[in-house]
Amino acid sequence: MNVNILAIESSCDETSAAIISNGKILNNIVATQSVHEKYGGVVPELASRAHQQHLIPVIHEAIESSGIPKDQLSAVAVTLGPGLMGSLMVGVSFAKAFAFSLDIPLIAVNHMEAHILAHFIDDPKPKFPFICLTVSGGHTQLVLVKSHLDMEVIGETMDDAVGEAFDKTAKLLGLPYPGGPLIDKHAKQGNPKAYQFPISDMPGLTFSFSGIKTAILYFLRDNLKHDADFISKHIDDICASVQHTLIQTLMQKLKKASKTHGIKEIAIAGGVSANSGLRSELELLAKKLHWNVYIPKFEYCTDNAAMIAMAAHYKFAKGEFVGLDISPEARMKI
Ligand code: KG4
Ligand code: ZN
Repeated sequence: MNVNILAIESSCDETSAAIISNGKILNNIVATQSVHEKYGGVVPELASRAHQQHLIPVIHEAIESSGIPKDQLSAVAVTLGPGLMGSLMVGVSFAKAFAFSLDIPLIAVNHMEAHILAHFIDDPKPKFPFICLTVSGGHTQLVLVKSHLDMEVIGETMDDAVGEAFDKTAKLLGLPYPGGPLIDKHAKQGNPKAYQFPISDMPGLTFSFSGIKTAILYFLRDNLKHDADFISKHIDDICASVQHTLIQTLMQKLKKASKTHGIKEIAIAGGVSANSGLRSELELLAKKLHWNVYIPKFEYCTDNAAMIAMAAHYKFAKGEFVGLDISPEARMKI
């Protein structure tokens, strides 16, 4: 019997649907919401409305392009959390109704686990146990991955996520949301040692990114006092220096986690893993420390339903289904 699963992702500002058939991803349709650009961040109310507009066309396209008729779907999977409550609600309500109408099981997926399981879409796949640094707009976590569905958070941020640090820095520089990719672009042309920002020194495997945000705020304020065009003249060097500091902060803890747990299988996941500086720094460390490093394809770094489908594949195999009485969990934990 073929196992065909429709997966839906709507936790933040990306509406996405994918079909997985016998463990193989057939497609991954993503509709990005541009409505947030001018606000410097995701506006929850606008995100839910945009999900409502995009969801049905995106799902329709995923089903049509897969060539699998609706009546041959084996299950519907959806992100239950963590994420924005209103956004999650749109995906979860649809998934429940769709599963009910087709009389097929419903699978609830944790978005952060799915980011990690994106590594199992293509080869090479990490070997268990491995450590994953999951870096997104809402999370910064070090996760010890023991098997596909057995994960333990061994370190996380006590305040902002690293993606937030990228986005808030971008906002201070007058760049639109999401600023991470734009900082990455400017950083490629700048000098990472041009300016110094503090690397936070938290105990153990705990991260903190609120200090660097304040340091950047004061740095810009002081320089703008003397030169109103400071940002436009030095944007490449500022971006390169900020990015360098954020990457060093991440790498310090990743090295510590690898040493503490004696694990050299290292993966990165989440939106910030698209960062070119982070990707190349990790490759350098891999050579130096003899790590096996796993970096996702760009399309599977930021939010997408293919990763939800991959998680659903493992849950289906274990018969991990949920009832139609489930509700989204905005703060769902691994
Ligand atoms: O995983 P994701 O798509 O959504 C969440 O689950 O949060 O991550 C979005 C985050 C945003 O903060 C965005 O600025 C950041 O990923 N991001 C990047 C890059 N591409 C996306 N940050 C730095 N460099 C990039 N190239
Ligand atoms: Zn995400």
